Amino acid sequence: MKRLVFLVQLVLSMCFWACNIQNENTEEIMPLDPHSYAAPEDAMVTHLSWKADVDFSQKKITAVATLKFKKSNNSKHLILDTKDLEIKAVYLDNAVTPCDFTLQPKDEILGSALIIPIKENTGSVSIEYATTDHAEALQWLEPAQTAGGEHPFLFTQSQAILARSWIPLQDSPGIRFTYDAEVTVPGNLLAVMSASNPQVKNDSGVYHFEMKQPIPAYLMALAVGDIAFKSVGPRTGVYSEPSILESAAYEFAEMEEMLTTTEAIYGPYQWERYDLIVLPPSFPFGGMENPRLTFATPTVIAGDRSLTSLVAHELAHSWSGNLVTNATWNDFWLNEGFTVYIENRIMEALNGKSYSDMLAGLALQDLQDEVESKIREGSQADTRLFLQLEGRNPDEGVSSIAYDKGFFFLKFLELKIGRERFDAFLKQYFADYQFQSMTTEKFVKYVQQNFKDNIKNTEIDQWIYGEGIPETLPAPESERFEAVDNVLKAWEGGSPITSLISPEDLIAKTWSTHEWLHFIRNLPDEMNQETMRNLDEYLDFTYSGNSEILAAWFMHVIRNEYNPGYENLENFLVNVGRRKFLAPLYAELIKTENGMEMASRIYSEARLNYHYVTTNTLDKMLNWDESSM
Ligand code: BES
Ligand code: ZN
Repeated sequence: MKRLVFLVQLVLSMCFWACNIQNENTEEIMPLDPHSYAAPEDAMVTHLSWKADVDFSQKKITAVATLKFKKSNNSKHLILDTKDLEIKAVYLDNAVTPCDFTLQPKDEILGSALIIPIKENTGSVSIEYATTDHAEALQWLEPAQTAGGEHPFLFTQSQAILARSWIPLQDSPGIRFTYDAEVTVPGNLLAVMSASNPQVKNDSGVYHFEMKQPIPAYLMALAVGDIAFKSVGPRTGVYSEPSILESAAYEFAEMEEMLTTTEAIYGPYQWERYDLIVLPPSFPFGGMENPRLTFATPTVIAGDRSLTSLVAHELAHSWSGNLVTNATWNDFWLNEGFTVYIENRIMEALNGKSYSDMLAGLALQDLQDEVESKIREGSQADTRLFLQLEGRNPDEGVSSIAYDKGFFFLKFLELKIGRERFDAFLKQYFADYQFQSMTTEKFVKYVQQNFKDNIKNTEIDQWIYGEGIPETLPAPESERFEAVDNVLKAWEGGSPITSLISPEDLIAKTWSTHEWLHFIRNLPDEMNQETMRNLDEYLDFTYSGNSEILAAWFMHVIRNEYNPGYENLENFLVNVGRRKFLAPLYAELIKTENGMEMASRIYSEARLNYHYVTTNTLDKMLNWDESSM
């Protein structure tokens, strides 16, 4: 047995590039996933039945996972991914007596392989297990950490490889399965999943779920809390704690229109309903595309629908990512780059080109900053679209490269080919590969086949395998940002800002959140206290109700040690758990004099509010030592 796992590990670590395996299910050559112990060529999970009990007093899920699988004739084992699970017993089919199993030693990134010996006629295995305090996907919140303050809350975040910390599964994006679930929660709470969902609570606290379309493990999701539902369209609705339901429903009222708009370009929506749940502020991401039910941060509720491109983004994943899925995390750009592109198209269709041009402008700035910082850190290799993450945490691939370089590559293809043809091409791509996984190499071939005469292979290779920003990047042009640039230029950080953006002049009133973001991001790095105060008094950034504006402004607050901004900065750091905001703010803080001290003080208070995904990044940055607690 040990030899088998040793061999699997050897194969994983040593010849990932050289060997490909035949995936019987799809008749495709699939690359070996360096982030999963599963050996799908031997036995591949096809369905999960999950029966679970959620215990808030012990912060533990106790469950039975029954897995059906397909196997090759002579396969002797089913290998699953687990991380920090307490495995109690394993049964073959519906046997009364448990069978043997081996739980391999834990790898810090990948967890432990669970190896279950199977017989020739075995059709399913059942694993009795419980989650532990270390379950990295789970965040258990005390009532005080919720909007209502009265009930506890639980949510999961499985992407990229954390599903294995709450369900023993083949946790690889190249392996898809359907699922059903029965989840028992305290009687006054509602449970929702990435599946068919209840819309009201029941007294028993028992809820049933079904996901009929095959999905990869990273899309497994669960949330439990004092959750209510409000419909915003025939196929769309919003879940949240009751006290924010009205504001959430207002903010996301355009969901139905986004859905029909996307279908019109890219083909039918395959998941029946599209709902969104607003989670407590500790949710580590802006949004997560769990199928049928996007998980979202409350920091997108700005009150004016100005940050809803995030919904367009998560909805777009219903095609790019959930329907056609990156085969391994090295191909992550296939999920995110496509999705940023489709997000941009949805926002263009809803709000016009001048709006989507601004999104592209912000994306370019993000990309330039990312490339610069990666070069500074000596990690130029990570500025390639096709990543090499074996032996590393796939989280290291989450950067503006996958998102924004990916976006500009698709924009480049669109401009070469013409929009009409490119739209038809993508629609066909989603139809051809629906419910399958995709490798970078295969996508490149697909592009070459379709557009031999339009695009040179060398150009494509530069985008996919080259570092930095390709010469062929189509630079976005935004008239609205040019107007902002003109104001910035005329101002030059000197004169009081009121002299340019006066109350009589309506500029300030006509600018959208994106224009303000462009304005704030392009303010000079160094500003004196008077300039900062003048900007703040007139434009009220420190107390903005818009989280993106706050996060951008706080960078200047920190850089310029602008005292009047610190109280609300601290508030923000303690209350918001979104890594995209927190990581740059803490990083900036520790660069200032006495900043490390302040950052550590705030972090020791705030850390309890953050999800593992966020603490995993910040612990390293702030040299956090668990034992010092
Ligand atoms: N799927 C991602 C979030 C993610 C990526 C989680 C990798 C874990 C690993 C999601 O679709 C996403 O991209 N969210 C963005 C929002 C978006 C508008 C760019 C975020 O959370 O900031
Ligand atoms: Zn995304």
